[in-house]
Amino acid sequence: MDPSEAERITQETVEKYAKYVNPTALNLLKLGGFDKIEWEGCGATLRDLEGKEYIDCLGGYGVFSLGHANPVVVEAAVQQMRRLPLSSKTFLNKPLADLSELLASVAPGDLQYSFLCNSGTEAVEAALKFARMATGRTGFVSTIGSYHGKTFGALSASGRERYKTPFAPLIPGFTHVSFGDTEALSAVIGQDTAAVILEPIQGENGIHVAPDGYLQAARRLCDDQGALLILDEVQTGLGRTGKMFACEHWGVAPDLMTLSKALGGGVVPIGAVLGTPTVWDKVFRENPFIHTSTFGGGEMVCAAAIAALRLTLDDNLPAEAARKGERLLGGLRQIQQRYPDLLAETRGLGLMIGVEFKDADVGKLTIGSLVHHGVIAAYTLNNPKVMRFEPPLIISDAQIDHVLTAFESAMHETQELLADLLGE
Ligand SMILES: Cc1ncc(COP(=O)(O)O)c(C=O)c1O
Repeated sequence: MDPSEAERITQETVEKYAKYVNPTALNLLKLGGFDKIEWEGCGATLRDLEGKEYIDCLGGYGVFSLGHANPVVVEAAVQQMRRLPLSSKTFLNKPLADLSELLASVAPGDLQYSFLCNSGTEAVEAALKFARMATGRTGFVSTIGSYHGKTFGALSASGRERYKTPFAPLIPGFTHVSFGDTEALSAVIGQDTAAVILEPIQGENGIHVAPDGYLQAARRLCDDQGALLILDEVQTGLGRTGKMFACEHWGVAPDLMTLSKALGGGVVPIGAVLGTPTVWDKVFRENPFIHTSTFGGGEMVCAAAIAALRLTLDDNLPAEAARKGERLLGGLRQIQQRYPDLLAETRGLGLMIGVEFKDADVGKLTIGSLVHHGVIAAYTLNNPKVMRFEPPLIISDAQIDHVLTAFESAMHETQELLADLLGE
């Protein structure tokens, strides 16, 4: 496209954001150098309207495991879309049945049934409702800093006050304890606990991997007290951490598991909650319509999710994530050692990696610099000190090496800038 035409369209879109979308968000995008129009995506690469290319290391917080506009998933969606995109909700829906069967075949433990919805937060809402109904109890235990979504139930489960206080009162019955602390968990689970809800790796709180033994202890404590274990694998699920589901790193299977993000293959919005026959029986036996969704599980999104899941299995993407994750994590750790005054820690599993800065503002400066080097990254929502790297699982080794070179350059520039500012 002619550069002046691209500039004109970009300017028009900026004005529409200011006038009709969200002026404060626009200002933040401008600060980070993200006030460009995303135009095309292919594999791990995004291209803006002016033709500049970026390696996407934010990866839609785990949505783009198969890259952008994956042709196999797009084709599956288009074929189904031409014939019957949405369910009439009267007859049987074959793609929904096929997807549910496929999910049961890959899910850990006894997670045989699926309820399909449209997003992560809806999956969490469903899981919380199912836990109350299946146990007849009202209490929930969650963790400080956790992120489960922004609808009322999911927000009540989430663990950062900044996003909750303006909407109080939230749903009663939630107790929050420190993530990874088995004793704290044991102190609050009781006869009133319907469920404990955990992310195996806290994503938005800055990529905190559950310490060894923690999920096993949570499972045991839930069993002892007759409570359910909900694992929120919306961000960690479907290969990202080096296993199909993160809970498999510790051999733990939940009673309810939430999925979304990568489930749609980076092409369609879809969420799911998987549950055991015991839970399903208690929730749906008397009234099969006790929990429903108009759009959830439509034929087109299910066809796309089936294609995405088959690709994930056929190409063994969990193993790819494990191998590539070691390459990226190892490289980032080496860079961390060269900037001990600015970087505190690098951690993660598979291709879910966080680099913790000592100061959040320094992290934000580096993100801005990184984008000039053609790499997109972002900080985690509940912990702005942590820059996350969640690239597509199909990223190439050469692209990982490019990301590492760009991060080193961005760190160097940030250090120089800080030295200038501090007059060193
Ligand atoms: C672990 C987890 N649960 C739930 C959600 C909410 O998903 P959504 O934004 O699709 O509602 C997210 C989103 O980041 C998440 O990371």
